[in-house]
Amino acid sequence: MDDRAKPASKGTVVISLAIVGYGYWGPNIVRIVRQTDHATLKICCDSNPQQLAVLSRKHPDVSTTLDFQDVLDDPAIQAVILATPISTHHALAKQALLHGKHVLVEKPMTDRLEDAVELNELASVNRLTLMVNHTFLYSPPIIKIREIIQSGELGKVFFINMMRVNLGMHSSRSNVIWDLGAHDLSILSYWLNEQPSEIQAFGRDCIAKGVHDVAYLNMRFPSGPVVNVNVSWLSPSKYRNTIIVGSRKMLVFDDTRNEEKIKIYDRGIDVKPPDSFGEFQLTYRTGDIVIPALESKEPLSDMIAHFIDCVMHHKKPRSDGQNGLDVVRTLHFAMKSLRENSGVQYLSDPWLAASESAMKVI
Ligand SMILES: NC(=O)c1ccc[n+]([C@@H]2O[C@H](COP(=O)([O-])OP(=O)(O)OC[C@H]3O[C@@H](n4cnc5c(N)ncnc54)[C@H](O)[C@@H]3O)[C@@H](O)[C@H]2O)c1
Repeated sequence: MDDRAKPASKGTVVISLAIVGYGYWGPNIVRIVRQTDHATLKICCDSNPQQLAVLSRKHPDVSTTLDFQDVLDDPAIQAVILATPISTHHALAKQALLHGKHVLVEKPMTDRLEDAVELNELASVNRLTLMVNHTFLYSPPIIKIREIIQSGELGKVFFINMMRVNLGMHSSRSNVIWDLGAHDLSILSYWLNEQPSEIQAFGRDCIAKGVHDVAYLNMRFPSGPVVNVNVSWLSPSKYRNTIIVGSRKMLVFDDTRNEEKIKIYDRGIDVKPPDSFGEFQLTYRTGDIVIPALESKEPLSDMIAHFIDCVMHHKKPRSDGQNGLDVVRTLHFAMKSLRENSGVQYLSDPWLAASESAMKVI
């Protein structure tokens, strides 16, 4: 698709945006925003002049600034998209909300629980949209799996195994739970419609001391499912695999495939209670394998369109500030379990949740 800014068609309502952060991820956001009919990119801000020079070479017509204050002071800018490092999310989002701007912030929303709470309060008091880019909530296979789970086709979900590993970029500002695990936690809460009640994290800092690059998260959800998530920046190949085992059917999802990403297996074990004093009778079922058709859409594009729609029509975003807070809270307890080697953390304990809220999580 042509990457240049499109002129808005006559009568189209357009909102004016600023994008902050043009590093690794920001260019994807800029590309999508410039393709949409319903937004104009008023200015792009990055504190590094070299990044702005890269931007200007690719998009010579986009205004740039090194100073975020220019974004805040421009009354024409209605919304701000933040694609800066996690440690900056809270301060930048807070300033934007205090200046009356709607905010779309990259995942994870903040690096402290109390900051995530504060951003939600600010957005609510000022009646502004606060949305987090949990990109996978806009991905067709993730949406399809949610429909399958919620239709009851799999029966009761017994357990889920997820693997998200590749040879990743090590960063001293983050760790693999924070970077990759945030995706899986947002997906799980979207699929199951609830937050984990227990979490235990186990991992290792193989390459750089203190920066965990492999982790295993074990979780229990209130309605019963138990989940294991393996995330790693150290793997010879990229794997994005999920197995969901239900009481009726089982589902396998491979997000690295170009097609046939989801397979639903009519397989399982039926238990017949004993008639008399005999043993349980187990019947093994091996039925059809169904491969659902999926829409071909770019999740990031749908996510940006959703944000603009929510701003224009005062709608509640699918990945709203509360959703961002839920993920930050689970990350917080995962990190606590990992760092303190303190075993299972009970997220449903309100006293613990409150007393933990001021602790920095990375
Ligand atoms: N949704 C996804 O799938 C996805 C994928 C990758 C990264 N991300 C997220 O995107 C965000 C950015 O990640 P990245 O890998 O692009 O980081 P990066 O370090 O490559 O880029 C960040 C950019 O922000 C700029 N910056 C830093 N502080 C600033 C400030 N105060 N004001 C203005 N500019 C500032 C830096 O100069 C840099 O150019 C992170 O939150 C990350 O988690 C999301």
